[in-house]
Amino acid sequence: MISKPTPPTEELAAAPHRLVSGTLEERARAALEASRRRTLALTDCVDDADLRAQHSPLMSPLVWDLAHIGNQEEIWLVREAGGRPGLRPDLDSIYDAFQHPRADRPALPLLTPDQARAYIAQVREQAFDVLADAAPKAVAENGAARQGAQTRRAELLENAFVFGMIAQHEQQHDETMLATHQLRQGPPVLDAPEPPPAAVDPAYLPREILIPGGPFSMGTSAEPWALDNERPAHLVEVPAFWLDTFPVTNAAYQQFVEDGGYRDARWWTDDGWEHVQQAGLEAPLFWQRDGRGWLRRRFGVVEPIPPQQPVMHVCWYEADAYARWAGRRLPTEAEWEKAGRFDPDAGRSRRYPWGDADPEPRHANLGQRHLQPAPIGAYPDGASPLGVHQLIGDVWEWTASDFLPYPEFAAFPYKEYSEVFFGPAYKVLRGGAFGVDPVACRGTFRNWDYPIRRQIFSGFRTARGVEGVW
Ligand code: AVJ
Ligand code: FE
Repeated sequence: MISKPTPPTEELAAAPHRLVSGTLEERARAALEASRRRTLALTDCVDDADLRAQHSPLMSPLVWDLAHIGNQEEIWLVREAGGRPGLRPDLDSIYDAFQHPRADRPALPLLTPDQARAYIAQVREQAFDVLADAAPKAVAENGAARQGAQTRRAELLENAFVFGMIAQHEQQHDETMLATHQLRQGPPVLDAPEPPPAAVDPAYLPREILIPGGPFSMGTSAEPWALDNERPAHLVEVPAFWLDTFPVTNAAYQQFVEDGGYRDARWWTDDGWEHVQQAGLEAPLFWQRDGRGWLRRRFGVVEPIPPQQPVMHVCWYEADAYARWAGRRLPTEAEWEKAGRFDPDAGRSRRYPWGDADPEPRHANLGQRHLQPAPIGAYPDGASPLGVHQLIGDVWEWTASDFLPYPEFAAFPYKEYSEVFFGPAYKVLRGGAFGVDPVACRGTFRNWDYPIRRQIFSGFRTARGVEGVW
């Protein structure tokens, strides 16, 4: 007799924070320090005029990001979690992303670069004081009856969540600043510590992987620093489908370009076709023609396009059009996450394709160690149990899905992180890119953007259904 299968779960072998050394408070301190090192590296490498300049109407001046990072930290760590008066509440409105679109930010009465650096350092000192108090306080308040503001603070401090949230926020802005650097004209100022791993011949691997049908546990209720939109864990039925083993490469994408894909309405949605014509798109952003071939500009260097790297700087419309041209489609967000987390042997969802362990350099191209994606096949240690490669790191992957709340979503700690963005205007991206820090990347992490955006580090892979199920 065949025993009834147990329903899939996300039960972890151990709580994720016990898999690594250190308490969550220690991890929070390390994560905040790492984000600050990166923030300073991205802003110390250019002069004051450059920090104040607007390198693209799509982006803020770097000095706005710099002080915004500190302002969010003041609001959440010093005032909300710390219950302290704060340093500069008068700055809140200047650095509120909702009050001022990016294009308008250069005209605001911004802090100067030196003022911004001093401000974020002062905020950080107080944030570390709050952190030092947090562990005993959270325990004490757990014991006592919680009320009102105290409940709110206890919720923010539980598992050092709010510190993890602010470290992720800073890392997200660091990635945004990295995108500003990519748009910036002029000689290069950024160095990669090391080149990406050498190409491993992926030819011995299948081009696509069959992901078996059935339910899996999507989202998380166990990950201590998962953001509100990743919660809660819930079962989702995903029929069997085929998924590309690797992200789509520059070489493959170039065939679409050379096949006249940008001039053929058959491959585009109506909106996409209108956009490609109106914006005059004919190749990924930062590609330029060189005789019969193509070059790319990357952080101020013009270079040949590495054929085996994942294609990058394409918008959702381009990804979707390529997929149709190839006779395929983009994976849904649920398909992507099932491929990335489901362990068919254990019947449960894990934190990453390789398991529950935190990312190490051998698993994935994350953390701005390399200033570019690695060639496909470069991370065999990061493959999923079914054999899907490079789901985490290298390039963000566009999915077919709109950014929507999971069942029983609850905004926490504020509606403006996720809730105000839910709806059909935004498409979900998954997996993180080379410029994403491990603290802000996991199998459940959800990113989103408009389908026309391509200054982000975005690529994609394609999928197809089985037996005519599309
Ligand atoms: C999750 C990357 C879409 O940059 O708009 C930063 C992250 N939220 N500050 C964004 C974020 C508030 C967000 N994304
Ligand atoms: Fe922000």
